Amino acid sequence: MWHVVAAGFLFFPGLYQLCNHCARRALPGWLEADYSLVSSRIVSSVQGALAAVSGIIVTTSCKDVKFDRHWLATTYLWVLIPYMMYDTYAMYLRHWYKCQDSKVLNGKDHFSAAINSLLQKEFLMLVHHIATLTILVPVGLFIRGDIGDFYVGCLLVAEMSTPFVSLGKVLIQLNLQNSILHKVNGAFVLLTFFACRILLFPFMYHAYGKQFGIPLYKVPFNIPLHCNITNATMMAPQIYWFWLICRKAMRIYRNSASSKDR
Ligand SMILES: *[C@@H]1O[C@H](CO)[C@@H](O)[C@H](O)[C@H]1NC(C)=O
Repeated sequence: MWHVVAAGFLFFPGLYQLCNHCARRALPGWLEADYSLVSSRIVSSVQGALAAVSGIIVTTSCKDVKFDRHWLATTYLWVLIPYMMYDTYAMYLRHWYKCQDSKVLNGKDHFSAAINSLLQKEFLMLVHHIATLTILVPVGLFIRGDIGDFYVGCLLVAEMSTPFVSLGKVLIQLNLQNSILHKVNGAFVLLTFFACRILLFPFMYHAYGKQFGIPLYKVPFNIPLHCNITNATMMAPQIYWFWLICRKAMRIYRNSASSKDR
């Protein structure tokens, strides 16, 4: 599987460089941080789409939620290693450029200023990436054994919302936050996030219940405690993020309503 990891280490940074190059050509006069943001968003979208497609293939082909196997489930977990490492670095780089552009280093050296800004603005995302690399991927690759490809697929489907979230950020960057496209995209963000990151959890329990003939509400008592704990731990930040997205959506809706009144 090391060739998959190596390919990821070439693919994600390479795509970033390519996007950066094209963005510079197409949109001259931007700040470094803006090019960096747009490029890393495009790479995230591509990764999100690849993950979601892999997830759909895995979940639809695994009929037995516990024992059926699909090679993509494990392979994609390997892909996540280079991606998460690349993306953590891309986040850092973005803040590095931001500090450079704004020239506010507050007497700190550039490195600590960038780290500070990263920790302040994207703490939860950083924790998410580190937890994925140090817990989720090792568990998925080495600890879970030969079971649960279906559930790995489900978690990959959760990435379905990423391309829409990223597109939203790019549209704001392009000053199109009042466009129809941004509103339509916002609806897709809400929809995909809710369906693939929140409803996903009851769905996983439902799939288990269906196979073993137990009603949904009894499933938590039929699976090991650590499964419930991991599911809850993974779901908690999703609920928090969904709440942030809803708040943002309400603000956009209210703004457009008040601009119509004027
Ligand atoms: C989440 O819950 C399902 C219950 O159906 C379980 O099979 C699965 O293993 C849990 N996931 C984790 C990572 O524990």
